[in-house]
Amino acid sequence: MLILGIESTAHTLGIGIVEKDSGMQILANARDVYKPKHGWGIHPSEAAEHHRTVAKEVLEKALSESDVSFDNIDAIAYSAGPGLPPCLKAGLEFAQQLSNKCSKLLLPVNHCIGHIEIGKLLSGARDPVTLYVSGGNTQVIAYAAKHYRVFGETQDISIGNAIDTFIRETDGSYPGGPVMENLAKQGKNYIELPYVVKGMDLSFSGIMTSALQRFKKGAALDDLCFSFQETCYAMLTEVTERALAHTGKEEVLLTGGVAASQRLNEMLGMMCNERGAKFYGCPKEFSGDNGAMIAVAGMLAFASDQKGIKAEEADFKQRWRTNEADVAWLN
Ligand code: ATP
Ligand code: FE2
Repeated sequence: MLILGIESTAHTLGIGIVEKDSGMQILANARDVYKPKHGWGIHPSEAAEHHRTVAKEVLEKALSESDVSFDNIDAIAYSAGPGLPPCLKAGLEFAQQLSNKCSKLLLPVNHCIGHIEIGKLLSGARDPVTLYVSGGNTQVIAYAAKHYRVFGETQDISIGNAIDTFIRETDGSYPGGPVMENLAKQGKNYIELPYVVKGMDLSFSGIMTSALQRFKKGAALDDLCFSFQETCYAMLTEVTERALAHTGKEEVLLTGGVAASQRLNEMLGMMCNERGAKFYGCPKEFSGDNGAMIAVAGMLAFASDQKGIKAEEADFKQRWRTNEADVAWLN
């Protein structure tokens, strides 16, 4: 069985191909990442335009990487949400074009579940509490009672967005994650910032504003980066630990673009060690947004007898909640 997966929810137009005979194998993971013409961040209609422009080229790349002929693909999975509507629409329309051209059915995939399933596949985690941290998302997710459920999440901006905004306003560069990580290594003094965990939920916008105010009053940037990381990553570790305790699970999986952070890996690793839980990461190529993760989740659905839907029935959902998605392969 061969499934092609299309990712288009935000910056990345990614196309992956996976094969399943006995086990599951990733044959291709091609992508092209949008960069804004001016400034930084994401302009949704510009990103959608980017996705439309590069889609065919990325498809060719994926097909040649995998050495698979398009005719042998069994179904086409696409990222149906959550995400930015213009970007989702570009991915959906490309999937529909392909489907119409060769009468393959479409498999709508929840983006967050794509992250989890490829993380499980590559790490060997079986039933983890997943911490999914990126530029657009911050969620603690675990499987319970027939669905992936969100046990904790940000009430405002994502951790990646908080880091990116702080670094853009202080250092002028983007993306902020790697820059903050390097500066933080030189920071020595802990500057107190608001620590905001409310029940299982988190908030990062107050920390970001407070750190910016401290910077304007003359605090050293390396100290602020150090303190920013220590505060935010401790909050994420606390909520992840609470989800472990609450669900009784024994594994943690870290994924999303912010999973590249050494310090976050370290803190979660220590917490897991102390609790006797196992900590799993996801290789960088597959922890940021990519097409292979959509193909993997699509394959799981396809192999569990969801044969897909016709192009004209396919749609996207801007706010598709993780717990609303059907995960037949787990039930
Ligand atoms: P999504 O659609 O899942 O929200 P995205 O478009 O934000 O994804 P990703 O590649 O998943 O894209 O994540 C990008 C984020 O990862 C940025 O906010 C970036 O600063 C952050 N990041 C990258 N490297 C590091 C690092 N070493 N430490 C912390 N954050 C990092
Ligand atoms: Fe993502």
